[in-house]
Parts: sequence; C-alpha cells; structure tokens
Amino acid sequence: MAKPLVRDFPRKLIPVSEPNLCGNEKAYVNDCLESGWISSNGIYVNRFEESFSRYLSSPHAIAVANGTCALHLALLGLGIGPGDEVIVPSLTYIASANSIIYSGATPVFVDSLPDSWNMDPHQIESAITSKTKAIMAVHLYGNPCDLDALLAITRKHGLYLIEDTAEAFGSRYRNQLLGTFGDISTFSFFGNKTITTGEGGMVVTSRADLAEKIRLFKGQGMSLQRRYFFEVIGYNYRMTNIQAAIGLAQLENAEHFIRAKRRNAELYREFLSGIPGLQFPHEDGKCFDTFWMYSIVLDPSLPFEREELTHYLSSKGIETRPFFIPCHQLPPYRHHQITLPVAEALGTRGLNLPSSTCLTREDILWVSEAIRTFIACRK
Ligand SMILES: Cc1ncc(COP(=O)(O)O)c(C=O)c1O
Repeated sequence: MAKPLVRDFPRKLIPVSEPNLCGNEKAYVNDCLESGWISSNGIYVNRFEESFSRYLSSPHAIAVANGTCALHLALLGLGIGPGDEVIVPSLTYIASANSIIYSGATPVFVDSLPDSWNMDPHQIESAITSKTKAIMAVHLYGNPCDLDALLAITRKHGLYLIEDTAEAFGSRYRNQLLGTFGDISTFSFFGNKTITTGEGGMVVTSRADLAEKIRLFKGQGMSLQRRYFFEVIGYNYRMTNIQAAIGLAQLENAEHFIRAKRRNAELYREFLSGIPGLQFPHEDGKCFDTFWMYSIVLDPSLPFEREELTHYLSSKGIETRPFFIPCHQLPPYRHHQITLPVAEALGTRGLNLPSSTCLTREDILWVSEAIRTFIACRK
C-alpha cells in the first residue's frame, strides 16, 4: 500500500474523549476534603440530585455508583426478575444486557435501524411474547430512539419503557429531554460521558413509589424511616459526596458541553463532506442529538478494512473507537444463536471519532483531513 500523506501538524495525541473539568470541580472536591465528608453522606449528593432533577424537570433523581447499577436498580424497581423478558438492542454497550441478567430476567436482542443505528421498532413488535415486561431503549451515541414508535408499542402491549440514557445526556426528542419518556431512566457519568463524575450514575423517574424502592435497594435495603433496619436484601450502589461534587460542577457547565458537542458534529460534517463511502449520524427532524460520540460508518464498497484506517489514524496521533460488537456476538450471549444483519454490519464498519468537548477546530480539521487522505490513497 502506498503510504498516505498528511501535511505535518506537530501536536499532541487526540483522544476519543477526555473529561472537561473546567468549572468548580476542584473547589467543590476541596470542600468535601476540608469538611471530611468524602463518603456517601454529605451535601453534594443532595445538591447534585436536586440540580439533576431540576435540569430534567423530573421529580426524582437518585444518584448511584455507576450507570450499570442504575440499570439494575431500574429493573429491580419495576419488579422485573426471573421468568421475565426485556427487549434490548444488541448493538449497545454490554452493561445494558448484563443488567437484565443481574435482575434474573432474560435479554431478548433486536436488530438496529441502518440510518439511526438505534433499535428497530418493527423488530420489537415481533419479539414480544407473554413473558415480555419491558423495552430497554438505548439512545446510541447520543441519538434519540424513535420514541413515538416505542411509546406506541409499550402502550399497546402494557410494557414498561426503560430509557438507557447513558450516552444521551442533554439530547431531546420533540424538544423534550431524553430520560423523561420512560417509566424509569438511567444515566452514566463515566469519565468519557458528556458530564462525568469519574464513575457514577443516576436513576430518574416521575413515580414516587419507584423512587422510594430505588433508594431502598441502593442503600443495602436499609429502611428509609428506621436506621439499620434492613427491609430487603439490597446493594451498596451509593454515590460518594466527592463524585457528586464533581457532578454538580459538571452540570453547571452542561449547556457549554452540549454546544461544544454539537459544534464538533457541525465541523465534522463540513470537513468530511464529499469524501466517498462515509455514512454520517442521521439527525431526524424530531431529534436533537448531543453527539456523545461523533461517528462514521464505512461503506462496504470501500477497498479496505476499518482497522487499516484506524491504524493509519493512530499513526497520526488520532485515537478512534470501533462501534460496539453486538452483544449476541460476544461470548456471554452467543448461545442466543441469532443473526441481526444490521447490527452486525454496523459493528464491523462503524467508528467513533474524537468527540471531546475540549477539541479545537484545528483538531477536527486534522482528523478529517487524515481520513480524506487515507481514503483518497486507497481508492
Ligand atoms: C449504553 C450504556 N449503558 C450503560 C452503561 C454503563 O455505565 P457505567 O459504565 O457508568 O456503568 C454505558 C457506559 O458506558 C453505556 O454506554
């Protein structure tokens, strides 16, 4: 292969994501350290929950240790367990499926749509059985699912809607924030998320009874009225005051982060335009995507493998991330023995590009030019 040339651009490594800790994070964490409230009691947990609930205009937000346990708690809260089925896209981070297993229920995988890369509502309809209790909607890489269709299905069949909003903080559908459509919704604040607490998560619901159950289960099952009286076998899924302090500071900058993510997407669209064989994220008219990860999908007609492109980009100091391998193709779920052609194709040809809120215009130009040069040389 002829070595593609990209003009020299002496610079640092461009990561796929990096936390943007440009606000009050340090001040609030120092406050925790100085006050000694470093565990899961302390004012920041309440403040973060209240601010998050205000941000979403949703009455109950419960801070937890991470996005995976948020999903587990959501399922426990809804009473989903052994013998139940939950429909979930196969093209998601494995935590979505694993949380269903933790609850004792069975994940039923469905295929994705080729344009939005989200779960296909037609496939959901055909996957429903008498055991189905819920649909877990994953808003992949920030892009909202077809919520009109999903809500119509849940109403028609009497199912719960769980929104896995781990990747879609700040995204909207019909101008309403994601995380407010489901019976219960979850968020992740892992270090690569649009707002982060290092590790962390949130469960959101408008139902007071559900919120109470989540609080019970997240705190080892200890009664909310009587200390050290354990009503059920619960979990230690609590968020620390330090995590919440970071989260509160991040939330103060939410609009700045969302603007930066959307600007990244606009710049990629502009700089990558005209390159043959690339599919870009599809933003439906009803959707406002916060582009947690700006992504491309390589057309099968391109005469190279995705990994050749990623190696080339890596040699230029550009980190990328392959799309998720669909869960049904991974060892813990291979026994499902199903074929989901859209998810499988996206899993082999999709690529997340650097998407952090710290990127400059020049960074995005550099990444785009590197992709353009590689493809031009391989045509
Ligand atoms: C779709 C989805 N669900 C769940 C999770 C789990 O979140 P966490 O890593 O905070 O446990 C993630 C995290 O990356 C995710 O992307």
